[in-house]
Amino acid sequence: MLKPLSQYLTEQAAPDRLRQLILAVADACRDIGHAVNTSALDGVQGALNQENVQGEVQKQLDVIANDMMLEEKRWGGVDGQGLVAALVSEEMEEIYPLKGGEFLLVFDPIDGSSNVDVNGVVGTIFSILKAPVGKVTEADVLQSGRHQVAAGYAIYGPQTTLVLTIGKGVSAFSLDQKSGDWLMTVPAMTIPATTREFAINMSNHRHWAAPVRRYIDECLAGKTGPRGADFNMRWLASMVGDVHRVLTRGGIFMYPVDSRKGIGKLRLMYEANPIAFLIEQAGGVATDGVNPILDIAPEALHQRVGVVLGSREEVERVTAYHKEG
Ligand code: AHG
Ligand code: MN
Ligand code: MN
Ligand code: MN
Repeated sequence: MLKPLSQYLTEQAAPDRLRQLILAVADACRDIGHAVNTSALDGVQGALNQENVQGEVQKQLDVIANDMMLEEKRWGGVDGQGLVAALVSEEMEEIYPLKGGEFLLVFDPIDGSSNVDVNGVVGTIFSILKAPVGKVTEADVLQSGRHQVAAGYAIYGPQTTLVLTIGKGVSAFSLDQKSGDWLMTVPAMTIPATTREFAINMSNHRHWAAPVRRYIDECLAGKTGPRGADFNMRWLASMVGDVHRVLTRGGIFMYPVDSRKGIGKLRLMYEANPIAFLIEQAGGVATDGVNPILDIAPEALHQRVGVVLGSREEVERVTAYHKEG
């Protein structure tokens, strides 16, 4: 019998209320995964005639998943006293206060939503921070990624799998659709230090800074180039999908700063930070191109950041190229 998520959390001596919260997040991901699975049957794969705070046209499933996360009964805890003081979401401009609790839950309800109507992989990303005592202000949420208590994602692909860290490594739990249990399928995910596989949206090549173009062009030069090796490329347009591959077999994932705007695309609080926590816990490196993502002091709830993460050797090479200018 594979080890259930609940047993893993007990064995890792997760504090009881954190254990309850993680199990509640897992339940929410199971429900979101089901909504993704039936989205074509339910006719909810379309786009809405509204934009989110990011300036993105929202998909119906973005809002459906976000609404599922807002159901207060999910976060009451076994004693009904409340586990979460406030929710923060890609899909909501402001923080969403709940009746109380010792944690903040920060999330991207559907990651990779441009994949929804083409049956591509999508996911849910979550980050758990400590809440202040009393009323939660935006400043209370703006904690660096080093302060995360736990983080993870659910990936809705051929399997539905929850990947989690509570600061003691990274484990993967696959959903048993019959029983509804999350069962450990990978006790410890680790990222090899080297790779010959890169993930980047190549159509942005002309908008990258020179060090990024230099790195990718060397990868593309293959055996005859300065790297002396043939590289492979993957791009799933879902951070969760690309990161799951990196955690499973290594690689480098990049969404670099766009030189036109001087900012990245990915969001710090509910994409880069939780994923960077997982990557570091699995022995990889996660930077904004130069500095560790987890050290960034957030200034805004929906702040964007450049992202370069994965196999140590390759990420450190990109950092070196940035430092050489
Ligand atoms: P989201 O669907 O939550 O807005 O995130 C999409 C992100 C990320 O998942 C993915 O890596 C990236 O956008 C893909 O960007 P492109 O469509 O520019 O490739
Ligand atoms: Mn989005
Ligand atoms: Mn996302
Ligand atoms: Mn999203």
